Amino acid sequence: MRIAILGSGFIARFYATTLHAQRRKDYIFTVYSRDLDNAKRFADDYQLAHYTDDMDTAINHPDIDVVLIALPNDLHEIAVAKSAQGKKHVLCTKPLGRTAAEAKRMLDMVEQAGIFAGYLEDLCYTPKFLKSVKAIQKGSIGKVLWTKSREAHPGPHSDWFWDKEKSGGGAIIDLGCHCVEISRNFIGKEVKPLEVMCWAATQVHPIDAEDQAIGLVKYANGAIGQFEVSWTFRGGMDLRDEVIGTEGSIWLNSFLRTGFEIFSVGKPDAYVAEKAEVSNGWLFPVGDEAHELGYPHMFTDMFDAIEEKREPLETFYDGYVVNAILDAAFLSAKTKKWEPVLIEDWRGEEFTAQEEVLASFDDEHFLIKEEVMPNKDLKKILKHKITGKVTQKIFKA
Ligand SMILES: NC(=O)c1ccc[n+]([C@@H]2O[C@H](COP(=O)([O-])OP(=O)(O)OC[C@H]3O[C@@H](n4cnc5c(N)ncnc54)[C@H](O)[C@@H]3O)[C@@H](O)[C@H]2O)c1
Repeated sequence: MRIAILGSGFIARFYATTLHAQRRKDYIFTVYSRDLDNAKRFADDYQLAHYTDDMDTAINHPDIDVVLIALPNDLHEIAVAKSAQGKKHVLCTKPLGRTAAEAKRMLDMVEQAGIFAGYLEDLCYTPKFLKSVKAIQKGSIGKVLWTKSREAHPGPHSDWFWDKEKSGGGAIIDLGCHCVEISRNFIGKEVKPLEVMCWAATQVHPIDAEDQAIGLVKYANGAIGQFEVSWTFRGGMDLRDEVIGTEGSIWLNSFLRTGFEIFSVGKPDAYVAEKAEVSNGWLFPVGDEAHELGYPHMFTDMFDAIEEKREPLETFYDGYVVNAILDAAFLSAKTKKWEPVLIEDWRGEEFTAQEEVLASFDDEHFLIKEEVMPNKDLKKILKHKITGKVTQKIFKA
C-alpha cells in the first residue's frame, strides 16, 4: 500500500521508522507538513518520492491508497473529512477525537463514505498484550474482575498538547485513551461501560488542563477498569497494566522495566528511550521502541485488514467508545459523582449478567478460602449457606 502521512512530528517519525523498517512492503509515498522545509527534511530522512505543504494534495494524490493521520488532536476531524471525501482508506492516531461528539462525527463520515478506517491504538498491539488478551479469552485467569492500566511520564513534547482547546484536555485525553482501551480489551469489548468516577487535578504544571488523574470505569458485568495517568511522573515513561481474574492475574510492564538495564557515566547527547530524563547512571532502555510499543503488529493488522476486507482489531468505533468514557471521566472530575457513559450507538451486548463465582465446600458450606500454613496444615475457611456463619476446618499435615 502507498501511504500519505499527514504531519512530520514525533509520532509521524515513529510511524515512518516502523513502516520503512525490516523490509516492509507498505511504504510512505508522500508527507504533508504545514512547513515545506519540515516536509522536505522528513522526505529526505525516509527517502520519500514526494512531499507537500498542502493537505489536499497529499490526500488526493492518485498514487495514494491510505491516509495516515499524525496531526495534533484538533486536526483529526478535518483530516478524516478530507480522506472520506477523497474516498481514501484512513488510519488515525489516538485519541480519535477531543470529545465523543467529535469522534462520532468522524465515525459517521467514514461509514457513510464506505472507506476503511483504523484506530491506531498501538499499546493494544504489543506482542505481550496480544498474548495476554488471548490467554484471557481462553479462560486462563477466569473472569476478569479488575484491570489497572497506568501511563505516566513528565509531560508531552509539543506546545499544542498543553493547550486545552487544541488537545481536548490534559493527561486524561492524552494518556487515559490508551488505558481505557487496554482495559476494554481485557474486560471484553462487547461488555458495556456504564459509568465513571474520576479524580483529576493540576498539581505541577501552569496549565488549565489536568496533569494527574485516576479513574474507575464500571462495566455491565461488574468488572472495574482503573486508569492512572500523569504528566508529572519523574523518571521516564511508566507503562504498566495489571489484570486480576478469579483464577489468575497478569502483570505487564511495557517500557520502564523490560529486562534491559545499562549503567553509564553518561554522554551529553545520548538518547535512551522516549521521555527518559537522564542518560547516566543505571538506565532502562528498550530494545526496539517501535516494537515494544506495538507499532509493527498494529500496522500489520491494519494493512492485512484492508486487503482482507475485514475490520481491524482497533476501529473508529472503539475510538468513539473511548472518547465517550473519557467525556464521563471529565464530567465526574467536576461533579465528584459517578457519571454515566453516554454512547449513542452501542454495538455490544445490551446486558451482561454478573455471574456469581461462589465455590462450594459441601452441600451446607461455601468455601471462602484455603491455605497451607507454615506447619503444613491445610486450613479451609467456610461459610454456612443458610446461617451465614463463618468457620474454619484444619486438616493436619
Ligand atoms: N502512542 C501514540 O500512539 C502516540 C504518541 C504520541 C503522539 N500521538 C498522537 O499523534 C498526534 C500528533 O502528536 P505528535 O506527538 O506527533 O505531535 P508533534 O507536535 O510532535 O507533531 C505534530 C505535527 O503536526 C504539525 N502541526 C501542528 N500544528 C499544525 C497545524 N495547525 N496545521 C498543520 N500541521 C500542524 C506539526 O508541525 C508536526 O508536524 C496527536 O494526536 C497525538 O495524540 C500518538
